[in-house]
Amino acid sequence: MEGVNHQIILAARPAGMPKESDFELIESPMPRLRPGEVLVRTLYLSVDPYMRGRMRQNGSYARAVELGEVMVGGIVGQVVESNDPRLECSDVVEGMLGWQEYAAAPTKTLRRINASTAPISTSLYVLGMPGLTAYFGLLDICRPQPGETVVVSGAAGAVGSIVGQIAKIKRCRAIGIAGTDEKIQFITEELGFDSGFNYKSVQDYHAKLKELCPTGIDVYFDNVGGQVTDAVMAQINTRARIAVCGQISHYNSDSIDSGPRCFSQLLTKQAKAEGFLVFQYADRYEEGLRQLSTWLREGRLKYREDIMEGLENAPKAFIRMLQGKNIGKQLVKVG
Ligand SMILES: NC(=O)c1ccc[n+]([C@@H]2O[C@H](COP(=O)([O-])OP(=O)(O)OC[C@H]3O[C@@H](n4cnc5c(N)ncnc54)[C@H](OP(=O)(O)O)[C@@H]3O)[C@@H](O)[C@H]2O)c1
Repeated sequence: MEGVNHQIILAARPAGMPKESDFELIESPMPRLRPGEVLVRTLYLSVDPYMRGRMRQNGSYARAVELGEVMVGGIVGQVVESNDPRLECSDVVEGMLGWQEYAAAPTKTLRRINASTAPISTSLYVLGMPGLTAYFGLLDICRPQPGETVVVSGAAGAVGSIVGQIAKIKRCRAIGIAGTDEKIQFITEELGFDSGFNYKSVQDYHAKLKELCPTGIDVYFDNVGGQVTDAVMAQINTRARIAVCGQISHYNSDSIDSGPRCFSQLLTKQAKAEGFLVFQYADRYEEGLRQLSTWLREGRLKYREDIMEGLENAPKAFIRMLQGKNIGKQLVKVG
């Protein structure tokens, strides 16, 4: 295909909170297709906390994005040219094609999306990586039982918003922790969490958790780490299960955190904390997506998207998500 492509590259490695000047919008030639590849036009791209780690030289479990390289990330887009009989023009696909308008990719790296199941943007949220993270992290690691109390931090974001709703589907009490009163209203009034609190306005986390979890905490789904997690860990029950999903409170920091240490608490409560990466469940994605789609169709899972328009605004969207300004999933509409 003729024409120019637009891409957002990493221009500088950020210190602390990323700035828009750490990114640059460039024009580049349209990618050329090799056999077995398709050309995809991005319709939505996802901005996610893990990208902050990928901007560091050695800061992530995965390869760093090089300076001058296109920012990494998941997108959903439309096939506009195909060199593979398995995909046709106008098919909708999801894949890790980065912050760019067009990308060439081998068919085998893409997931075909059925646009009649749900809006295609959900393949980056409830029917995509964040939904699967919530599903496997909560159900496989924490194994919540009816009547148990489940606490989730980062509760109004992409992963957390789904965790609390699955906890409710499993007949647990769901308590969410998030950073604004509006977010607490969202998770309780729209999503059906039992309760929650704003960790930026509540002073005494311990007293608040005691009030909201009078029978203690059986399951903790940790998206944030830091002081919020210290407070939750102090109130876990015997045989509690903790899924360590994310530690976003540290992502912009270069120093090593030395908060209260929780191993004694794990020991005396005979509790289990387990870290996980959603990719370890790749061979069960189909199962997860089938169940999430069913719950979505039945109206048992609700979601909210926070959409910014324009590829050029992807850095802004990414920064606002790290600043906690998103409610639900932060996306960028490109096409
Ligand atoms: N293990 C895995 O495979 C996996 C996969 C996906 C995501 N994750 C992790 O899951 C977590 C949530 O990801 P997401 O995509 O759902 O993002 P998200 O919750 O939609 O957005 C990030 C949220 O983090 C909160 N936050 C920012 N700085 C914070 C701080 N200093 N302390 C506490 N909260 C802070 C903000 O909400 P507030 O207003 O509430 O502060 C912000 O809205 C992240 O830690 C991410 O790395 C892990």
